[in-house]
Amino acid sequence: MTPSNIFPKPAAATMQRVDIALGQRSYPIFIGQGLLGAPEIWQHMPDGTQALIVTNTTVEPLYAALLASQLAGRYARVRTFALPDGEQYKTQDSLSLIFDALVQTGADRKSVIYALGGGVVGDMAGFAAACYMRGISFVQVPTTLLAQVDSSVGGKTAINHPQGKNLIGAFHQPRAVVCDLGVLRTLPARELSAGLAEVIKYGPIADMEFFDWLEANMEELRACDTAALTHAVQRSCQIKADVVARDEHEAGLRTILNFGHTFGHAIEAGMGYGRWLHGEAVAAGMCMGAHLSRAIGLVDDRFVRRLAALLERAGLPTRGPVLDGRDNAGRYLELMRLDKKAESGAIRFIVIERPGRAVLRTAPDALVRSVIDHCCETEPVLQPA
Ligand code: NAD
Ligand code: GLY
Repeated sequence: MTPSNIFPKPAAATMQRVDIALGQRSYPIFIGQGLLGAPEIWQHMPDGTQALIVTNTTVEPLYAALLASQLAGRYARVRTFALPDGEQYKTQDSLSLIFDALVQTGADRKSVIYALGGGVVGDMAGFAAACYMRGISFVQVPTTLLAQVDSSVGGKTAINHPQGKNLIGAFHQPRAVVCDLGVLRTLPARELSAGLAEVIKYGPIADMEFFDWLEANMEELRACDTAALTHAVQRSCQIKADVVARDEHEAGLRTILNFGHTFGHAIEAGMGYGRWLHGEAVAAGMCMGAHLSRAIGLVDDRFVRRLAALLERAGLPTRGPVLDGRDNAGRYLELMRLDKKAESGAIRFIVIERPGRAVLRTAPDALVRSVIDHCCETEPVLQPA
């Protein structure tokens, strides 16, 4: 019996389930309204001696008690540990704090970590689970749209290095992902928009019908309409699950999920972590990626304008910030050489070969410079408008 067979079929008619097929490491993604309070979900979580809920100081007062009450019947002990909130805390120091909490609570190899929060918490708690006693089980309980459609799925875990995003990490798959759409109602509008960047990403790289649907439903999504969110999260998770099932460790195909991220990671590191949200940086990065695709001759102007228009309607920036007033493009290039897709100093970009299909390509520095010059603000700005 594979782990995915252990999990129940969705109880409620409105609940969606996406399975990620990775042999013995397969797992389900449950998507629906009110799942945090649905006992039938939690009674099927992995067995273990105790549970540690890793969260942050913003999410803890909102949802940790509810999750702890659901887990209380399953584990002998349930503890909660809250990290400081923010991308700037996605560091070795925070990781050490999680290890300290695991040691202090007497966690053993059969303990289970529950990552309750956005992508920052999920990435760090997942990395701690990958390392502690050489690997323990963890479950993702994503509470941001971005985490529900992207970071909680696929097993990438990491912390940042001051010079580069997610440079230190591991692949470690969760045992299950529980996406309660109800928690998105407490999410600030700016964070919801940031999540929409990763939703929109799935159109150009894999599914232009989904892109059409997003164009028709953007207002509903921004208003947190349950039916619209259910479809957006389900379709995003399905696309990501299909890609990860074919290329778990990013030997090739999985790199397409990084469309916009090479430019975006440079923005996040170059501006200082936390100034631009990850999704905002990815949005501006996707515009640069689309312009680069056009400059190479792969897509036309109409596609570039369509992508920018949808990102704008999602409340996202479509232009990159100035990272260095003297040589802005040079600073982008310097930061991008640390990208994980770079090989021997040659930066590799995800470009759109045709709408709905993405590929990995190198590009001459001069061309990339011209794209950056064309796509960036001319004056320094701390946050996107
Ligand atoms: P985040 O984790 O910082 O969360 C955003 C903010 O929302 C935080 O202030 C958080 O406390 C708050 N919050 C979370 N849930 C809330 C809720 N329900 N109500 C109110 N406030 C809430 O940011 P994010 O956008 O979720 O994640 C970004 C991170 O994810 C980045 O570090 C990025 O590198 C990472 N990421 C990882 C992957 C992956 O595959 N592992 C993919 C994409 C992004
Ligand atoms: N967010 C990119 C990936 O999971 O591969």
